[in-house]
Amino acid sequence: MLWQLVLTALAIGAAYYRWSRRRLYQLKAEIPGLPNNNPIFGIALKFIGNSEGMTDPAAIELVSKTCLVKDEFTMKYFRTAIGNGSIFAPVNIWHLRRKINSPFYSLKNLNKIVPQFDTQSAIMVDLMKAEVGRGDFSIWDYITTYTFDSVGESAIGTKLNSQGNPDHYLLRAIDACTHMVAKRILQPWLHPNIVYKSLPVYKEFQKHLEGANELLEETIKNKRTEIRENKNAKKTDWSIFLDVIIESSGGMNNGYSDMELREEIMVMMVAGSDTSATGVCFTAVLLSRYPEVQERVHLELLEVFGDSDRAVTAEDLPRLKYLEAVFKESLRLYPPVPIVAREVRSDLVLPSGATLVDGTSVMINIWGAHRNPAYWGHDAEQFRPERFLDGALRHPAQFVPFSYSVRNCIGQTYAMLSAKTALANLLRRYHLLPPAGARADDLQRPLPVKFDIMMKAADGFAVRIEERKTI
Ligand code: HEM
Ligand SMILES: *[C@@H]1O[C@H](CO)[C@@H](O)[C@H](O)[C@H]1NC(C)=O
Repeated sequence: MLWQLVLTALAIGAAYYRWSRRRLYQLKAEIPGLPNNNPIFGIALKFIGNSEGMTDPAAIELVSKTCLVKDEFTMKYFRTAIGNGSIFAPVNIWHLRRKINSPFYSLKNLNKIVPQFDTQSAIMVDLMKAEVGRGDFSIWDYITTYTFDSVGESAIGTKLNSQGNPDHYLLRAIDACTHMVAKRILQPWLHPNIVYKSLPVYKEFQKHLEGANELLEETIKNKRTEIRENKNAKKTDWSIFLDVIIESSGGMNNGYSDMELREEIMVMMVAGSDTSATGVCFTAVLLSRYPEVQERVHLELLEVFGDSDRAVTAEDLPRLKYLEAVFKESLRLYPPVPIVAREVRSDLVLPSGATLVDGTSVMINIWGAHRNPAYWGHDAEQFRPERFLDGALRHPAQFVPFSYSVRNCIGQTYAMLSAKTALANLLRRYHLLPPAGARADDLQRPLPVKFDIMMKAADGFAVRIEERKTI
């Protein structure tokens, strides 16, 4: 899983950066640490020594609002693939791009593309029929091609059909590039350009990158031609990110260059597909293990849809309140992005009184914050979706799967709508069951996840499905 690899690279890169500046750190006051048994930091902790990962919502709030610079040490390698694309861009570049990209992501606009989520996830659910009665299978491939196809369609208005063809060229190229960048970060001897560029892996990297870029450049060229020829119609198609950012950046002549358009499309596809897929997969696995929760979801679906298999619409989604609580509870226990790294650019006093000194690289420990018993109670480790129906949370930064404040995930509403639509279609049609061999008393234990090179469900998101009989 690509995004997890990116994260590990980030964590280890940041740790390496910190280590390389260790004298600086000896000067600084004690920092609130992680719980000792935190599974996420298995390796990273060994690099870091005493950890700076923070789990206190008040500290997370302050750092998220104050520190907008991402970890420069790792960013420069990601930039070899996505240039100045907003997610890893320097703050001055990011700021303008965020403004330009935002109109696409408003709820009002995203409601228009729910029909795309419905059509794409209907394809997914149909393909999955092949697994009925066949025992354990990994649901990951189905979900990740769904998220890739729907993000692709939203980004450039093209049906990529990776669901019918998992070896889709663009999917493979993006995957390969991200893996190669992450590997480079993990292997310091590959850092100097003079070394890296002399190796065969660099040729491979360039091949995939140029392939993906060419495809996107071609799309952008065609779009520009189309807009020129349609001059009189002068309508922006608000369901397509590319069309929206041409318009919101100042139009054909004054707006984003072809390169800027390409970078932002690439960012959307990289940031939007594996993250969502991970969230939906963990939700499916949890539902397979908590039959009473799955039944309650199904009752809610019956209330909204009856036994009809009609399309899911934007109006249906706000009514699926319990399903939303289930998705959030899954993101709480298994946040697809378990840490984010930021840089401190001037001394910062945390609510605890500790000082983060200028030049420190700091990790926000989302995983830890989501299991902090001071905010979630003694049952913090338990899967209990109802906690999201019980009223307001105690602190706005105690639940931060999409990070927090101005540099948070711009796609969080998109992710919610897409996931709820796909889960509604999946759960209306199928009954999810745990792997055949699973022991009953293991089912409600914490899921084994690995974070050695990447975070993943140790069993590759194995479930079984049965078709639901309509009433
Ligand atoms: C469950 C799904 C998702 C999760 C858990 C997630 C998580 C995150 C996190 C944690 C960040 C911020 C990192 C930081 O603070 O340093 C982020 C940034 C971002 N995400 Fe998401 N994301 C998800 C889905 C999406 C989707 C569906 C899209 C687009 C369609 C998207 C687009 C972006 C972009 C463009 C950024 C960079 C924003 C900026 O710097 O202005 N994400 N995401
Ligand atoms: C990012 O933008 C800066 C400033 O405009 C430019 O110097 C740099 O070359 C760009 N980086 C990449 C990788 O395109």
